[in-house]
Amino acid sequence: MINRLDILAAPEPDGATSGVWPTTLRRLDSGEFSVGGVPVGELVAEFGTPLYVLDEAEFARRARVWKAAMGEAFADLAETDVYYAGKAFLCIAVARTAAMEGLGVDTCTEGELATALAAGVPGSRIGLHGNNKSRAEISLALDHGIGHLVVDSLPELALVDSIAAERGVVADVMLRVTTGVHAGGHEHIATAHEDQKFGLSIADGAARRAVERAVGAEHVRLTGLHSHIGSQILAVAGFRAAAEAVLRLRAEAVRELGIEIPEVDFGGGYGVRYTVLDSIPPSPAEFASILAEAAAANVEETGVPAPRVSIEPGRSIVGPAGMTLYTVGTIKTVEAEDGPRRYVSVDGGMSDNPRPILYGADYTAALASRAPSEGVRTRIVGKHCESGDIVVRSVSLPADLAAGDILAVPATGAYGRSMASNYNHVPRPGVVAVRDGRARWIVRRETVADILALDAGYGK
Ligand code: LLP
Repeated sequence: MINRLDILAAPEPDGATSGVWPTTLRRLDSGEFSVGGVPVGELVAEFGTPLYVLDEAEFARRARVWKAAMGEAFADLAETDVYYAGKAFLCIAVARTAAMEGLGVDTCTEGELATALAAGVPGSRIGLHGNNKSRAEISLALDHGIGHLVVDSLPELALVDSIAAERGVVADVMLRVTTGVHAGGHEHIATAHEDQKFGLSIADGAARRAVERAVGAEHVRLTGLHSHIGSQILAVAGFRAAAEAVLRLRAEAVRELGIEIPEVDFGGGYGVRYTVLDSIPPSPAEFASILAEAAAANVEETGVPAPRVSIEPGRSIVGPAGMTLYTVGTIKTVEAEDGPRRYVSVDGGMSDNPRPILYGADYTAALASRAPSEGVRTRIVGKHCESGDIVVRSVSLPADLAAGDILAVPATGAYGRSMASNYNHVPRPGVVAVRDGRARWIVRRETVADILALDAGYGK
């Protein structure tokens, strides 16, 4: 059971990214939490619960740490770029913060692309992924001169070529290749092994054929190779193996086909801690130096100069910068096989954080509205009509917890709001950004009226 919050709330040293809570989290003398300089009580009074809270300074700091780590690791070798993977959480405010920190923005749908564009991110600083992009998505990308248009298959390469021809332009494209690496992480989010839907296999020759095809296509210019091996990966070995495989393919293209490929993108997937029981993941500096070592070794081995290198972290920038506030409702205690277990129901659940039910993900929680006392074994559950609707499987929370108390669940910044649903017609919570003692909506809260507004029968 986890209850070491007060240690974790200490600010992390510069450059550290292994914290579970945002670095601005404090317990005030009153016992209440504050985040980004705003007491939780004020947040709840003004914005209600459930509520996603994003510590903007922490988001910006993590973006900076990644950018500096890549710059330093590749200093003598290559130019680098970091693209914030918007699928983890995207709105106009975070796209702007990422851009202000010198990051590009990686998107994977028309909606994400439109959001990055609405934020004013230049097309040349945006990426677009997807294994089944629509004509509309490809057209939007070409109209805005998207810098990283990542082509996933041969049929898509032909489609991009033909849409570019219709428009009389030449499309810059990267090719997504699969390296055969299985780096761990949940099966649903691993992406580089052979038997899954993404990318062009290096092993079966599809990647090499696509390189030749891209170079032969009249309205396409091949600018790079791309690899993404999966998500929430906590070891460097998979990244090293994937980088080696992609760089080998690139060197082969130069030496055997005479094809220059200026850039490689090693994708995202860098894991974070959700609870203090999770092992500490490698730091951005460690991940970056593994990639740089692979690039240096490839130059040494092949004599082909290093490419420009980019990466696309999402979770490790936004995950621990966010947390969710819930209000406690009903409480009961049952006799479980291994002793008493208290069930604490909160006013959200699997609709605002589907990760526990989808991936068996574990989170922790703390009492945020007053000082905690001696804890008992607790399971935090949501308000949905499913018994699997678990928010936190097991955590020690004060024995005197009562309806109306506020709980904070950390590290919900990534894949929380972005995967939220309206299951059971529950409106999705909004996101409030806190910074320097001020709080504001960056994504407004949905209401039941919003849900009814889409119902074609409403009012008829
Ligand atoms: N680049 C590409 C091509 C990706 O597919 C992804 C994630 C990323 C970058 C960013 O990965 P990150 O650094 O955030 O791990 N819903 C799952 C995660 C799905 C990740 C999908 N792709 C979860 O909640 O764990």
